[in-house]
Amino acid sequence: MKMAVLASGYGSNLQAIIDAIENGEINGKLEIVVSDKKDAYALERARRHHIEDHYINPKVFSVRDEFDRAVIALLQERKVDLVILAGFMRLLSPVFVNQFMGKIMNIHPSLLPSFPGLNGVEQALEYGVKVTGCTVHFLDEGLDTGPVILQDTVPVYESDTVETLHERIHSVEHRLYTRAIQLFSQGKLSIEGRKCIINEG
Ligand code: GAR
Repeated sequence: MKMAVLASGYGSNLQAIIDAIENGEINGKLEIVVSDKKDAYALERARRHHIEDHYINPKVFSVRDEFDRAVIALLQERKVDLVILAGFMRLLSPVFVNQFMGKIMNIHPSLLPSFPGLNGVEQALEYGVKVTGCTVHFLDEGLDTGPVILQDTVPVYESDTVETLHERIHSVEHRLYTRAIQLFSQGKLSIEGRKCIINEG
C-alpha cells in the first residue's frame, strides 16, 4: 500500500504513522508528505525519516481548485492508494474528493458530528461537555461529514485548558489513526451508504 500524508502543522499524527510503519504495525510505504505551510514541522519530520517532502504554496494559484489539482498530480505520479489528512487545515474541493473517493481519511479532534470544522477541542470545552474524543472518517464533500471509521472518547476535566485537553486527545488520536490505516491496508473497510463497515472476520 502506497500512502501520502497531507499536513499543515506539528505532525504528531504523521509521526505516529511513521513509527507504526517502521515498527511493522502498518504494512505500507509512505511515499510523500505534502504541506500547504512552508514551515510545517511535519515536513521536517518527513525529511528526518528520508521521506519525500513537498511544500505547495496555495498563494500561487488564483483558483482554489488549482491547488488541489497540483496535489492530485503529485499523488497520481506516485500511484498513491491512500491519502491521509493529518492536521491538514485546508478544505479540499470536490475535484480532489472525487479523484480519491473512498481513499481519503481524516482525523478530527471531537466525536463527530459534534464540533466539526476548526477548533473542535475549543468548541467542546466551551460547550461544557463531560466527554469528547476523536474521530477517524473517510472524506466526502461535506465538512467532517464522511463515513466514520473509528471513534474513541476522552473525558473532559473541569481543570482542562484547550492545551491539556488537546494533549490527551492527541495521544488517543495516534492509536486510533494507526488502527484505521491498518484496517484499510488489510482490506477490512467497506463503505455502505454513509456507513463504514469493519469486516473483522
Ligand atoms: C489533530 O488533533 C487533528 O485532529 C486536528 O489537528 C491536529 C493536528 O495535530 N485536525 C483538525 O482539527 C481538522 N479539522 P498534529 O499536527 O500534531 O498531527
